[in-house]
Amino acid sequence: MMDTQRTGDYFKDILDHLLEDCQIIGFDWRYLYVNDAVARHGRKEKSELLGQRMMDVYPGIDDTPIFRLLAQCMETRTSARMLNEFVYPDGSKGCFDLSIQPIPDGLFILSLDITEHKQAKELIETQLRRLAILRAIDLAILGSTDLRLALKTILEETKAGLEADIVQVELYNPHTFMIETAAAIGNRSRDMERISVSLGEGVGGKAALERRTVAVPNLADAGLAGPLIAVMAKEDAQALYSTPLIAKGTLIGVINVILRSPFTAPQEWLDFFETLAGQTSIAIESAKAFENLQRANLDLKMAYETTIEGWSRALDLRDKETEGHTLRVTEMTLKLTHMAGMTEDEFIHVRRGALLHDIGKMGVPDHILLKPGKLTDEEWVAMRKHPTFAFELLSPIAFLRHAIDIPFCHHEKWDGSGYPRGLKGEEIPLAARLFAVVDVWDALRSDRPYRQGWPEEKVREHIRTLAGTHFDPKAVELFLRVLTL
Ligand code: C2E
Ligand code: SIN
Ligand code: SIN
Ligand code: FE
Ligand code: FE
Repeated sequence: MMDTQRTGDYFKDILDHLLEDCQIIGFDWRYLYVNDAVARHGRKEKSELLGQRMMDVYPGIDDTPIFRLLAQCMETRTSARMLNEFVYPDGSKGCFDLSIQPIPDGLFILSLDITEHKQAKELIETQLRRLAILRAIDLAILGSTDLRLALKTILEETKAGLEADIVQVELYNPHTFMIETAAAIGNRSRDMERISVSLGEGVGGKAALERRTVAVPNLADAGLAGPLIAVMAKEDAQALYSTPLIAKGTLIGVINVILRSPFTAPQEWLDFFETLAGQTSIAIESAKAFENLQRANLDLKMAYETTIEGWSRALDLRDKETEGHTLRVTEMTLKLTHMAGMTEDEFIHVRRGALLHDIGKMGVPDHILLKPGKLTDEEWVAMRKHPTFAFELLSPIAFLRHAIDIPFCHHEKWDGSGYPRGLKGEEIPLAARLFAVVDVWDALRSDRPYRQGWPEEKVREHIRTLAGTHFDPKAVELFLRVLTL
């Protein structure tokens, strides 16, 4: 058991050496007690504080929120708590968590130095914000196959994340060896979007050539030459940071960040800048890969179409068709399907189907196909198989599956008397109903091994009379309208 005197000494000893600041202020604002920490944090000797009035030691303090709170506690004899943020004479920031407690002699103040804690918290918040930005960019890259859209997001997020005024992405053109602006944000003049520099030229060109971040905290010192000066002046640019965009070891461009006031970037800012550049490189790289894939796909599709056209020309030749028969009927059929309201995405199938309409004749022997006279009943059996041959030939080919209507159904008749299945009316696919009119029209106008071509007027008349029996009457009407266009 300690006596009161010894207990007091014991507590005072603890207070003296406590890491936290402890001080007692009298009613007249004089320091009655300060511990070692107060002197250390206040950057004063204890003797400079003890017995002195607060406002004499720290002139101007009586005009601060902290002083007003102390005055209030002094008067009302209440306790309070407050966060006190301030700047040391050397410019560094401090932050203290103050507990104010009234005591018989005045106020007891305990302050915890939470400067580092607060800085750590701010850093965590900054990192979290930056993480969110990287995530947004990731999503933009994943969600968009359009480089322009992805770049737009990247520029916006970079501008916000680095608190920049202008962000500019320039891409390297390996043919011209130039770095050319691809996108910019925050610029006032369009000149910014037209900047293109050689490798090594200007800040961006230097970053590209040397493959490292180039920092110009104050552009006035950068010694820029030529038109770049004018552009930067127009933008009131004061600081410029440029870092290379590199994907798989290949230079793809640079990203420039411009500020309208001089700016010396801290390391963590530079780190984030380079991280963003990494993301940007990935975005550009994957968008380019996608574009190439699309182009390859397009080339392949073109190859398909070319193959089909070549195939159909060969068929015409064998059938002794007149020059251009198939192309002519294909074009006419597309006009009709358009007028009949078929959709754009059906066109490609209609086109392929029309080009290949008589592909089934590949299964009809020459002596029948090219016979100069009328066919016997037996020969007709073989001839009427050509739509079924077409179906068998085309249906295993996935990309021609939707093109099968015309080759399979172009000899069906509206009244059900056609072949191969005897379909009737609207059972016959629309494309085939339209095509049938065009095919007969073009066949009759042409010379055949088995007869001479008919005069145009006779063909028209013939088609008119077949409306409702051989042909869909609406298809005939539409066809005759197209002929007069
Ligand atoms: P294609 O020559 O391409 O004729 C297509 C369709 O046009 C014919 O289908 C028919 O509906 C119509 N068409 C063509 N020429 C005539 C004609 O002189 N008079 C009339 N009224 N309609 C004509 P279809 O009849 O089912 O014939 C299918 C294919 O059979 C023809 O295709 C052709 O390759 C062949 N073919 C038809 N008739 C003969 C023939 O008498 N001799 C020979 N060698 N082949 C024939
Ligand atoms: C650039 O085009 O890279 C930005 C301007 C400069 O290099 O100074
Ligand atoms: C098919 O798709 O089966 C060919 C045409 C038709 O529908 O009859
Ligand atoms: Fe046919
Ligand atoms: Fe034909």
